[in-house]
Amino acid sequence: MRIDVVSIFPEYFAPLSVSLMGKARERGILDIRLHQLRDWAHDVHHTVDDTPYGGGPGMVMKPEVWGEAIDSVCAEPPPDAITPRLVVPTPSGRRFTQQVALEYAAEPWLLFAPARYEGIDSRVMAEYASRLRVDEVSIGDYVLAGGEAAVLVMVEAVARLLPGVLGNANSVTDDSFAPGPMQNLLEGPVYTKPPVWRGREVPEILLSGHHGKIARWRRDEALRRTYERRPELLTAVQDLDKADRRALADLDPDLG
Ligand code: ADE
Repeated sequence: MRIDVVSIFPEYFAPLSVSLMGKARERGILDIRLHQLRDWAHDVHHTVDDTPYGGGPGMVMKPEVWGEAIDSVCAEPPPDAITPRLVVPTPSGRRFTQQVALEYAAEPWLLFAPARYEGIDSRVMAEYASRLRVDEVSIGDYVLAGGEAAVLVMVEAVARLLPGVLGNANSVTDDSFAPGPMQNLLEGPVYTKPPVWRGREVPEILLSGHHGKIARWRRDEALRRTYERRPELLTAVQDLDKADRRALADLDPDLG
């Protein structure tokens, strides 16, 4: 997958050379290209922002600079793709979820345009929407100082889904929010050796070697944790079996 990121802080993306992302890049699974937005600003100060029309606080990123940057990145397409999907992080965007991560992982080419200040002049998104798929997305209901951290989050969520990035041991089909048996369930607690640490024991069932019972226990713990921490997710859990319903009824008679 090819990923281009245009930003006034390309150095912000150094973590993409570490760990799984770094390995995926070395192996050629991920082709990440970072670009300095200011390279497309032509005045002596390489200005990328200006005051907002209509007044108000902060600055808005200039359309000409972004337009030249996006045109020039689009002018070097990879051999297997014609246009990138343009992703603009903003707190006023549609929510980025595991479903969206799966969609992006199926794309050959993503172009991220993280903004600083009050955002990018809206005409940029309107202009490219006539030529590219443009998504304005939010990673959560809080406001970051800029879109860069949101890009790091999204690239990691997408890249770990690409074939060959995770080992088989970490199958993505068991992910909490992915379609599958764990969809809309939070994962329960996990343990490793030693069996007793500071007087705290690992739940006995996990030492029993009884795979069926362990799977049931894990599912019960996932249901419990979801009920306690994210009860609003429970209504969206699909295909509850009898044992699931019993576990829920034990937690809360109204759920049985
Ligand atoms: N930029 C600032 N806050 C953001 C958020 N929550 N999601 C995506 N981009 C952002």
